[in-house]
Amino acid sequence: MCGIVGILGKEAVAPQIVDALKRLEYRGYDSAGVATLEKGVLQRRRAPGKLRALEDRLRQEPLSGRSGIGHTRWATHGGPSEVNAHPHATDRVAVVHNGIIENFKELKEELADHGVIFSSDTDTEVIVHLVTRELDAGKSPREAVPAVLARLRGAFALAFLFKGEEDLMIGARRGSPLAVGYGDGEMYLGSDAIALAPFTDRVSYLDDGDCVVLTRDGATVRDKDGSGAAVDRPVQKSLVTSALIDKGNYRHFMAKEIAEQPEVVGHTLAHHLDMGAGKARLPEGIDFKRLDRIAFSACGTAYYAGLVARYWFEKFARIPVDIDIASEFRYREPPLKDGGLAVLISQSGETADTLATLRHCRSQGMQIASVVNVPTSTIARESDAVLPTLAGPEIGVASTKAFTCQLATLATLAVAAGKARGVLSDDDEQKLVTSLIELPRLMAETIKLEPQIERLAKDFSRARDALYLGRGTSYPIAMEGALKLKEISYIHAEGYAAGELKHGPIALVDENVPVVVLAPYDNLFEKTVSNMQEVAARGGKVLLVTDAKGAKQAGGEFETLIVPDSYAFVTPMIYAIPMQLLAYHTAVFMGTDVDQPRNLAKSVTVE
Ligand code: F6R
Repeated sequence: MCGIVGILGKEAVAPQIVDALKRLEYRGYDSAGVATLEKGVLQRRRAPGKLRALEDRLRQEPLSGRSGIGHTRWATHGGPSEVNAHPHATDRVAVVHNGIIENFKELKEELADHGVIFSSDTDTEVIVHLVTRELDAGKSPREAVPAVLARLRGAFALAFLFKGEEDLMIGARRGSPLAVGYGDGEMYLGSDAIALAPFTDRVSYLDDGDCVVLTRDGATVRDKDGSGAAVDRPVQKSLVTSALIDKGNYRHFMAKEIAEQPEVVGHTLAHHLDMGAGKARLPEGIDFKRLDRIAFSACGTAYYAGLVARYWFEKFARIPVDIDIASEFRYREPPLKDGGLAVLISQSGETADTLATLRHCRSQGMQIASVVNVPTSTIARESDAVLPTLAGPEIGVASTKAFTCQLATLATLAVAAGKARGVLSDDDEQKLVTSLIELPRLMAETIKLEPQIERLAKDFSRARDALYLGRGTSYPIAMEGALKLKEISYIHAEGYAAGELKHGPIALVDENVPVVVLAPYDNLFEKTVSNMQEVAARGGKVLLVTDAKGAKQAGGEFETLIVPDSYAFVTPMIYAIPMQLLAYHTAVFMGTDVDQPRNLAKSVTVE
């Protein structure tokens, strides 16, 4: 989603702002802009498209101001054009905004009644006009911003710059994250710590409702939209370094992140397991014995991790799991039990729907556990128990390593829950933990299939539609495979439970529709083979992904990708890898923008 950078610096800040915005490119955007104070006067440069276009504009008309704000915009209200790009400004104030102002229509009407003429289709523009009116009425910037914040509904992070105020920047947060960076005689605002990584590792995070006033000497934060008391938001050492957000020798971040999986899944497992003792660690404060169900919720890929986890929790811990995508969860009004457990899964920890679900569950008296990759995120900070995934920053928009780390974390939790509930014996626990300990090695072996997958991808890149089938835990992995393919190659793909094929989707099968079948050799294998035969009988082109035993049973009849043999428990983490590589190489063949696919955003902070 949109990215914000603000700098009160010592030299010209526009190049630094553009540089920082480049590190936010991974969030997805379709226009960009920067505003600086040029001898006290607000000046803007904006451009639709990628940051290259903004750089061209800045080359033609450079900015030299030492105070500035910048933005990458992911269009919501109004298309991705120069007039809709941020910063929005009057001659008195400029603003950049992440999120949505829900009551912008009524505010716009009110302003229009007072003769304000709008120059964009955005919701954001109302903010600059409202602040300008307050300034015109004699208020100082420090008074004007809280007065306007009180009138806004919706979710936002904002950064303001004011005419004639070289040593002042104001930021505000409600719903969308905003971080303050502390430099040496310089101060920064950023929508995440990644933007600020090369400038400073001293960062504090605003809470919802905070408003921050920055000068080069430091920051003062007030709660209640800036009208409350001064509050302390501790400065922390950010662990995000520039090195972690480098592509290294890889062509794309996604390729690097796929390759990193054995290592980061290993780190994640080491955190959640006592490897020496062969035990899964139980997070503090969660008493699985007293629970009679668990509610899981998440979006997109993280939701598929939850779907896999449901199989594990129901099998190993004998606890019923309710799961729904976060944008639906609270609206279907499920009866939730006071004292029950909700588990939210999110890479970014900022996804608006997942956060709203967390708050809904909290309001129903539930205990909140979260599986998150960004430990400083809002979801992490609002949870009772945080189960970190140690994937490191994930920059590619399509989630890969965060997904397998989510699975690894949930797998350890399911084992810990099974043990705590007396369903698993010491011996059972030991066996499951052993299979997890072996997992990084098996994932590394699976990655070695890349050259073969690359060859298969060439055929795939000619398809317009594809089907992915699986049973048991392979069913959510089939859905994840289909999601990966459509996200980055734009080929239409659907994941189905293999048994559902004949209830509708088989009508799509012909020689032009590849059908990827995920079938580890387990108790469901024979049934899945029957489904493959149904596809083959209709001329469909099957790609069977299985292990050596499965390949032998299938008898060489189908195009087959053989992944390493493993315990059934860990197959989701292994089978996810060929799904990622197939999508990746198909997209590369098609020449799409792999790391920043069209229309997509990394951290979805609007509902
Ligand atoms: C798909 C993808 C998305 C995210 C979803 C949730 O590759 O990345 O579907 O999984 O937007 O995001 P988080 O995990 O940040 O809550």
